[in-house]
Amino acid sequence: MSCAASDSALAASIEGYRQRIERVLDHELSSNDPATTRLCQAMRYSVLGGGKRLRPVLVYLTGTAFAAPLLRLDAPAAAVELIHAYSLIHDDLPAMDDDDLRRGRPSCHRAFDEGTAILAGDALQGLAFEVLAQSRQLPGGDSSAEQRVLMLAILARAIGIQGMAGGQAIDLEAIGMTLNAAAIEHMHRRKTGALIQASVELGAIAAGLAPGPAYPALQAFGAEIGLAFQIQDDILDVTGETSVIGKRKGADAALGKPTYPSVFGLQAARDLAVQHRDLALAALEGLGAPALRLSELAHYVVDRAL
Ligand code: IPE
Ligand code: IPE
Ligand code: MG
Ligand code: MG
Ligand code: MG
Repeated sequence: MSCAASDSALAASIEGYRQRIERVLDHELSSNDPATTRLCQAMRYSVLGGGKRLRPVLVYLTGTAFAAPLLRLDAPAAAVELIHAYSLIHDDLPAMDDDDLRRGRPSCHRAFDEGTAILAGDALQGLAFEVLAQSRQLPGGDSSAEQRVLMLAILARAIGIQGMAGGQAIDLEAIGMTLNAAAIEHMHRRKTGALIQASVELGAIAAGLAPGPAYPALQAFGAEIGLAFQIQDDILDVTGETSVIGKRKGADAALGKPTYPSVFGLQAARDLAVQHRDLALAALEGLGAPALRLSELAHYVVDRAL
C-alpha cells in the first residue's frame, strides 16, 4: 500500500502490519492435506498473491491505537482478509463480474477452474470463522470468550444478507440499470462498506472499547471510509491503469454496472468520496490523539491510485 511521503509514519506502520499479516496468513494456510492439494493451492494462490491488506491494517491500526496487544489482533486481522479473499474469488466468477485478472494475475477460476474457485471461497469463509473463534493460547494473544463471540457475530452479520452478500445481490440485479443516489449508496455500503466497518469494529473490540463511548464513533468512521473506498474503486475502474490496479480497467462500464462515475459523473464522484472521507474524519473528532493514524488512513482511502 503506497502512501504519500508526508505520511511516512503511517506508511511505516502500514508496511509493518502488512508484513505481519503476510506471515499470519501464510501460517493459517500452511496445512497440507494430500486429499485436497488443488483446493489448498487455490486458497493460497488467492490469499497470498498480493493485495493492499487494507482490512487487516484497519484491525491493527484501530486496535493498537487503543492499546490492544498486537498478538490479540492477529486472529481478527487474518479473519477479515480471508473473508475478503473469498469475496474476490466469487466476485470474479463468470456468474458474477466475469473478471479474468485479479491482483495482476489470472483470477482464481482462470488459474484453477470454476468449481475449485467456488470451493476455495467457501473454505476461506469457514477458515476465517475458525481462526477468529479459536483462542491462540499465548500470553496476550487471546481475546476473552465474550469478545470473540461479539467479533464472530459482527463479522457474520457484515458478510451476510445485511452486508456483503446482500450488497452483491443488489449489484447483480442492478446490471444495465441506473440507480438513484440513495440506492447506489445503499448498495456500496453493503457490498464493501460493511466488511471495512467490521474491520474497524473488530480492532475496537479487541481493545476492549465495546460497549463504550468511542465505539459508535469508530463504527461511523468505518462505515464512511468503507463507502469512500468503494467510490474510489469505481473511480479507478475509469481512471486507473490495468497494470497499476491489477484488474481490467473499464470492466464496470463493459458490464453496464451502475457506479458512482456512471451515475453522478467523474468529478461529482470524486467530490462524494471526499465528502464521505470528511464524515469519517468528523466521526474521529472526540477520540483525540490515538485516532491520528486512522485519520491519515482516511486520506489515503480517497487519494490512492490502486
Ligand atoms: C477490491 O478490494 C474489492 C472491493 C471491495 C472494492 P481491494 O481494493 O481492497 O483489493 P485488494 O485486496 O487490494 O486486491
Ligand atoms: C466488489 O466490488 C465488492 C465485493 C464484495 C468483492 P467490485 O466488483 O467493484 O470489486 P472489483 O473492482 O472487482 O475489485
Ligand atoms: Mg463486483
Ligand atoms: Mg468485481
Ligand atoms: Mg470495482
